[in-house]
Amino acid sequence: MFPLRIAGLAFAPNGKAVLDGVDLELSGEGITVVLGPNGAGKTVLLRLLAGLLPAGRGRLDWGGAALPSGRLAMVFQQPMVLRLSVWANVEFALRPQALSPAERRRRTARVLERVGLAERSRDSARLLSGGERQRLALARAWAVAPRLLLLDEPTASLDPGATEAVERIVREIRTDGAKILMTTHNLGQATRLADDIVFLAAGRVQEHGPANAFFARPQSAAARAYLQGELPWRLPFAR
Ligand SMILES: Nc1ncnc2c1ncn2[C@@H]1O[C@H](COP(=O)(O)OP(=O)(O)OP(=O)(O)O)[C@@H](O)[C@H]1O
Ligand SMILES: [Mg+2]
Repeated sequence: MFPLRIAGLAFAPNGKAVLDGVDLELSGEGITVVLGPNGAGKTVLLRLLAGLLPAGRGRLDWGGAALPSGRLAMVFQQPMVLRLSVWANVEFALRPQALSPAERRRRTARVLERVGLAERSRDSARLLSGGERQRLALARAWAVAPRLLLLDEPTASLDPGATEAVERIVREIRTDGAKILMTTHNLGQATRLADDIVFLAAGRVQEHGPANAFFARPQSAAARAYLQGELPWRLPFAR
């Protein structure tokens, strides 16, 4: 299903363009971080790729096919949890897959162990803290062995320790063979995780390239302004 080629993708819900011709090519490897100001359409882009919004104009080409051939999972900024146990939340996510009960149990146990929630298996998911909920959401996504994982600000309201735990899990999911496409406003996180950066503003991709090049020499005025605004100090950008 890779490379994923996005061409001229537009989303204009009420006649006002949120995305106005997004062109982007993503390989099937690594972690791609989408940066951009509030309202740039980052969440919309992820939702369009996940098939959660009707695409308007434009084309998605998944490695030569109109639809993704591999599994796709998405984790939202405020993950929803079912009024069930932690264990049942993961098992539920596996229902659409034709797995034997033993295999379903094995996978559930494995991902809960890997996100550090094995001891909480029997607890109600409603009792989890924000950081624990986010780890549960990642476990649910991980359990289905996605080829593409979409993460929308997965650490938006988490403390540094919980953020580090999520980042470790994201890296492990990547190592397990998933392409990661994520958004964040945490620039430290972007430098820690990203192989490449997509900078979205004014409805379009303004820049796409290796993360180190982006942070050292952002090319667009919009990216420079964004980076200056998000950081507590002024960066003297080389020209
Ligand atoms: N389903 C929808 N119908 C109409 N408008 C929408 C819909 N979804 C998003 N929008 C609008 O699209 C714009 C972009 O929203 P989006 O949530 O993608 O921004 P974002 O880049 O994720 O911002 P943030 O950094 O604040 O999360 C917003 O103005 C939002 O109100
Ligand atoms: Mg958003």
